[in-house]
Amino acid sequence: MAEMITNPRSFGNPEKVHDALGWLRANQPVTQIITSEYEPFWLVTKHEDVTEIERQANIFRNGDRSTVLIPRDMLRAVESVMHSPHLTRSLVNMDDREHRIYRSLTQSWFMPGNIKKLSDRIRTIARAHIDRMLARGGECDFVSDVALHYPLHVVMEILGVPEEDEGRMLVLTQQLFGARDPELARDADAFKDTGKALAMFQAVLGDFHDYFNKLTEDRRINPREDVATVIANAQIDGKPISERDANGYYVIVATAGHDTTSASTSGALWALAERPDLLKRVQDDPSLIGGLVEEAIRWTTPVKHFMRTATEDYELRGQKIKAGDWLMLSYLSANRDEDVFDAPFDFQVDRTPNKQIAFGYGAHVCLGQHLAKLEMRILLEELLPRLKSLEIAGTPAWTQSIFVSGPKRLPIRFEAR
Ligand code: HEM
Repeated sequence: MAEMITNPRSFGNPEKVHDALGWLRANQPVTQIITSEYEPFWLVTKHEDVTEIERQANIFRNGDRSTVLIPRDMLRAVESVMHSPHLTRSLVNMDDREHRIYRSLTQSWFMPGNIKKLSDRIRTIARAHIDRMLARGGECDFVSDVALHYPLHVVMEILGVPEEDEGRMLVLTQQLFGARDPELARDADAFKDTGKALAMFQAVLGDFHDYFNKLTEDRRINPREDVATVIANAQIDGKPISERDANGYYVIVATAGHDTTSASTSGALWALAERPDLLKRVQDDPSLIGGLVEEAIRWTTPVKHFMRTATEDYELRGQKIKAGDWLMLSYLSANRDEDVFDAPFDFQVDRTPNKQIAFGYGAHVCLGQHLAKLEMRILLEELLPRLKSLEIAGTPAWTQSIFVSGPKRLPIRFEAR
C-alpha cells in the first residue's frame, strides 16, 4: 500500500492507485505511511478530513516542512543547502501574515472580475489552437498538440513572457513537476543519487531564475499591464520585493498555471472521446459546459496532494496526530469520496452540487482557479461546435508523478464540421 501511494510509477496506472485509496477510505481513512524512502507521514483520504485540516491553517502549516512529498535524503539535502525545507520561497511555502501579504499582491488580478476582462484574448488564443488541431486532418495527440500549449500560452501572456520563450518554460516546468517521469525528466537517472537529484532541481530553478531576473529588470523600467509588472514593482513592508521573492512568485505562477490546466482539459476531452452520448448531450446543450469543466477537474484531479505539518497534537478520526507530524492531503482520494459524491467513479456533467476539492481549500486555495475554469470553458465552447465526431485512436497514457499528473498522451480521431 505504502509503495503504491509513494511510487510515481503507480500514477501511470491511476486505476490501481484509486483501488488502494478506495480501500483506505473504507478501512483506514487516516493512516500512517512508513517507508524506507520517506519520512513517515499521515495519509488523509476523506474529503471531510482534508477540508478540516485545510480550514485550520494556524495548526496545519505549510512553511515548517516540505509541502510536497519528497524523499528523506532529498529533504536533508535541501535543508543543508538552502537552510530551509523548501527549494523556492513561494506562496505555497508561507504561512500567516507573510502569506497574506504576498498573496494579496496578485489576488485581485486572479479574481473573476479581472479575469473576465481577459475572455476575448483567451478566446482568440483558444481558436488559434483549435484551428491548428483541426488542420491536422482528423487525428492528433490532444495532449501534445493542444492541451500542453494552450494554458501555457495564456498564463505566459498574463505573466508577460513572450511567445518565443514558451517552449523553454514548458520544458522547465515538466522537468520540475514530472521530474521522475523518464520521458519528461532532465535526468531521470539523477534520482539514483540524492546529490545529483538536488543539483538537477537547482539547475532547473537556476534556469528559471536567470530568465525571470531579466523580466524583473525590464518591468521595473518598462511597466506594462501584466502580472510580472505587479510582482517586479511590489513593495513588502515598504521595501521593494527581493530578487529571490520575486523569482519564487514567478515560478509558482508560471508552473502552477499550466500543467495543471492542461491535465484537466485533457481529462475533459478524454471523457468526451470515450462517450459519444456525452459529446452529443453537451453539444446540444452548451449550458452543460460549466458542469463538464467542474467534473473534468474532479475526474482528473491534476494536483494529487499537498503536505501540511501539525503544530500541535490533534485527533483526527480517532488517530492521534502529534505536533511536528507530517500529513498528506490526498485530493485525488477526497474527490472520489463516496460520502460526498454519488457514484464517484462515474463522469457526470450534471453533478449538483459538485464539491470537488481539486483546487484545495482555505487560506491556500488555488489562486488561479477562476482562470483555469475560464480557460477550459472557453476552449470547450469553441471546440465542441466544430466537431462532428470524436473518439480515442490509440492508447492514452498518464504522467508518472505523485504530485502533478494527468494524461500524458491522448491520441484522438475526429471529424470536423
Ligand atoms: C495553489 C490546484 C490552476 C496558481 C493550488 C493548490 C491546488 C491547486 C490544489 C493548493 C491549494 C491548497 O493548498 O489548499 C490547481 C488545479 C489547477 C490550477 C487543479 C487547474 C485545473 C492554476 C492556475 C494558476 C494557479 C491557472 C495561476 C495562473 C496557483 C497558486 C497557488 C495555487 C499561485 C498557491 C496559492 C497559495 O498558496 O496561496 N492550486 N491549480 N493554479 N495555484 Fe493552482
